[in-house]
Amino acid sequence: MRMYDVIMKKRNGRELTCEEIRYFVEGYTRGEIPDYQAAALMMAIYFQKMTQEETFYLTMAMAESGDRLDLSAIKGIKVDKHSTGGVGDKTTLALAPMAAACGIPVAKMSGRGLGHTGGTIDKLESFPGFQTGLSEKAFLDQVNRIGIAIMGQTADLAPADKKLYALRDVTATVDNMSLIASSIMSKKLAAGADAIVLDVKTGSGAFMKSREDAYALAGEMVKIGKAAGKQTVAVISDMDQPLGNAVGNALEVKEAIDTLKGRGPEDFLELCLTLGSQMLIAGGRIQEKDPDAALREARKMLLHSIESGSALEKLEELVKAQRGDGRAVYDTSLLPKASVVVEVKAPSQGWITQIACDEIGMCSLILGGGRETKESTVDLSAGLLLKKKTGDFCQAGETLAQLHTNDPRKAEAARERFLNAYVIEEERPSEKKPALIKGIL
Ligand code: URA
Repeated sequence: MRMYDVIMKKRNGRELTCEEIRYFVEGYTRGEIPDYQAAALMMAIYFQKMTQEETFYLTMAMAESGDRLDLSAIKGIKVDKHSTGGVGDKTTLALAPMAAACGIPVAKMSGRGLGHTGGTIDKLESFPGFQTGLSEKAFLDQVNRIGIAIMGQTADLAPADKKLYALRDVTATVDNMSLIASSIMSKKLAAGADAIVLDVKTGSGAFMKSREDAYALAGEMVKIGKAAGKQTVAVISDMDQPLGNAVGNALEVKEAIDTLKGRGPEDFLELCLTLGSQMLIAGGRIQEKDPDAALREARKMLLHSIESGSALEKLEELVKAQRGDGRAVYDTSLLPKASVVVEVKAPSQGWITQIACDEIGMCSLILGGGRETKESTVDLSAGLLLKKKTGDFCQAGETLAQLHTNDPRKAEAARERFLNAYVIEEERPSEKKPALIKGIL
């Protein structure tokens, strides 16, 4: 087989076989196929697209390109949750302890933030001392001992995807449905869970800007998961504005803790309950057979984990087990705090009809809370607290948001960008708030 022929076949719009896809993935991972040929194939795929079979073969080849986590030592049905990435998306911080408190073993690998989106691993490091680099044995033991562990992705999990994603990032070939679906699912399959609940974001802060694209991506991923023998569900959720009110690592940790104390923002709690219900059902924790009754029972269990304090205790256990300061769960003043807090005031009176969500993510990055390159260091205390969101009314001079940073010059740059991201109109919008849950596949 020659890479030249594989590229030409795809360039001419023909379907690649499983052997051809494996030849490429294995050769590229070993360094035998050069970047320029891999880039040419990515561009050919970008224009000619891939069939469902090709997408599945690519996913499996990438999932099998390195280590695969064996979670069989953990008792029970392991359910993984994955978000396609957004702004203010701190779901894992609250949902993982809620699900664990309801008896789902949570063995989760998470990533760091890049660009305008955040990452769970950075957020968890807001707990002073928290360790995210665990050995596989320590990870498995911890899940068996306390029902929950969250660690950073190991270097050798789906290494083909790691290389290809970096290549796609610099060759304008990221936003192809099959390439995104196979990239995400290869990591999920390598991470070894029995069932997968996907949170596919749609809107200005998401990869998939349109609802049609989000549905298509969700559909592709569900098909891949099922073809690989895993129960897979996708929730399509709104990312036309940040989730909750906090954007930025320590600020989001505090908001997740507030939610576990029963005083979190409504939209964030709703997303946790929606995704959590799917996790409990997939994990076999619900007795009800009727689908609507099962969802009601699952929500009740999840809400009980908040009301009883068991989810908050589970978060404390997790933080302590990974050598973080567990006291911060009950006393959030122990989390990193910014020295400068600047209020952004509304320039005029009216209704907030639109928020450029990716721009709010960029404001957090400018304030120090994000990462421009993989090497950037993150200021864990930096970010924003939104006081007004889409559908709200504001008076001229009323506070729209607080900017948190350790550098007053950054606050000024972010303030300007923030004001450009908010659309304030005199006329009341017909739709008050955008629906949070768009659909479930
Ligand atoms: N996230 C991934 O892991 N891969 C993609 O291709 C896009 C988003």
